Amino acid sequence: MKLRQLLPLLGLLAVVAGAQPGTGLVDAARGPVAVDKLTDPPRLANAINDDVRRPRNYDMQPPTIPHRVDGYQIDKNFNKCLDCHARAKTEFSLAIPVSPTHYLDRAGKVLPQVSTRRYFCMQCHVPQDPAQPIVGNAFEGVAAPTGK
Ligand code: HEC
Ligand code: HEC
Repeated sequence: MKLRQLLPLLGLLAVVAGAQPGTGLVDAARGPVAVDKLTDPPRLANAINDDVRRPRNYDMQPPTIPHRVDGYQIDKNFNKCLDCHARAKTEFSLAIPVSPTHYLDRAGKVLPQVSTRRYFCMQCHVPQDPAQPIVGNAFEGVAAPTGK
């Protein structure tokens, strides 16, 4: 093969070698996976179910959920969480009642039922997995939280 015929091939090789976006950029949370590729994170296993309420890390933090919630249905007709957590139910369920803030609409009016703004509980409250954090965190809350 003559050099003239080889040139396009060499050019192509150079393009392929050079065009690997993301190589060289390493993100601790992604490992060596290039930024334009999807990682294959480990599946979530059993959430912690020890029923121990966790301290909050800052004022007004939505508390994390200390029990499993698999299979708890929340849709437009039914909310399993409120079966136990609605203020009217906690006398029997012994769950922690949702705080009064959950009954306020956006104008600050008190409603007789949980506000639609707070209906999808897991927008804010999440269970915890017994996994080691993959990146360090030195966050410190404010000096004098309410202690909740
Ligand atoms: C069968 C009753 C029951 C259901 C259903 C239930 N919970 Fe609970 N929840 C409890 C009880 C009881 C506690 C108190 C701690 C414990 O025993 O786990 C609790 C604790 C919590 C806490 C901790 C509150 C704090 O101040 O630390 C959160 C948050 C919570 N639940 C959210 C939820 C969400 C969100 C759902 C629906 C996905 C849900 N719960 C469904 C009974 C229930
Ligand atoms: C928009 C975010 C948001 C949504 C949605 C939400 N919460 Fe909360 N929740 C919070 C925050 C923030 C707090 C802590 C501050 C407060 O009490 O308002 C809290 C507090 C709580 C507490 C602790 C109350 C206490 O006295 O310690 C419980 C229990 C709770 N929520 C349950 C629920 C349940 C059940 C739902 C679904 C029906 C829900 N939350 C929906 C943000 C939310």
